[in-house]
Amino acid sequence: MIVVAIDGPSGVGKSTVGKALAASLGIPYLDTGAMYRAIGLLARRNGVPLPIADPDRVGKLSETAEVRVTGTGGNVRTLLDGEDVSEEIRQPEVSLYASAVAAIPQVRRRLAAQQRELALAGGGVLEGRDIGTKVIPEATAKFFLTARPEIRARRRFEELIRKGTPQDLASVQTEMEARDQADSTRADSPLACDETYQVVDTSDLGPEQVAEQLRGWIVARLSVDLQRPDV
Ligand code: DC
Repeated sequence: MIVVAIDGPSGVGKSTVGKALAASLGIPYLDTGAMYRAIGLLARRNGVPLPIADPDRVGKLSETAEVRVTGTGGNVRTLLDGEDVSEEIRQPEVSLYASAVAAIPQVRRRLAAQQRELALAGGGVLEGRDIGTKVIPEATAKFFLTARPEIRARRRFEELIRKGTPQDLASVQTEMEARDQADSTRADSPLACDETYQVVDTSDLGPEQVAEQLRGWIVARLSVDLQRPDV
């Protein structure tokens, strides 16, 4: 069984690369950020103000919510209690909620357990912030994607235009930096890279090129493992 962890900050191309890699390896793809976004949306719909002053309330809301990410390739859908919220969770306001609920240990415990179960059931490419550190530390391969800040902001800016919810570049960059700062400094499972990761700078590469590079690394790694006498 192959489990691939792809972690990194926003705007480095994790989703596009993850989908392409999963398709080329013929294994499922799981966007774990979509799950945090769904809980963020739930908090917002319940009128929870930001910053979150009552994490227990959000923890309780998340306990009874059913979040599912289904489908493959270009047709991945996110369901919150059976409702398709795939488009709504991409709104910039929901991004801020996602980052805020992702700092709540009760929320993380529940979603991480679900993600681990899915990965161990059928393998897959899992994309997020703590996949290789917390969710599946024993993954077949772990990749940490990076890119220069101005490139990441531009990618997000262009993505928002494509989605019909444009925002000016400066505010995209400011929001992105605030979210990355929060995701990297929270107490529970912060975004962090260690020596078990392969670091890939995607600044000057297209998603297909990155996916090809990761695929090559996995194939090489698996054949090395197969040659080890103890395997
Ligand atoms: O990848 P994304 O932008 O869709 O993720 C939304 C938020 O969820 C992001 O601010 C960080 C958080 N997240 C997390 O804490 N752990 C994950 N495994 C995935 C996302």
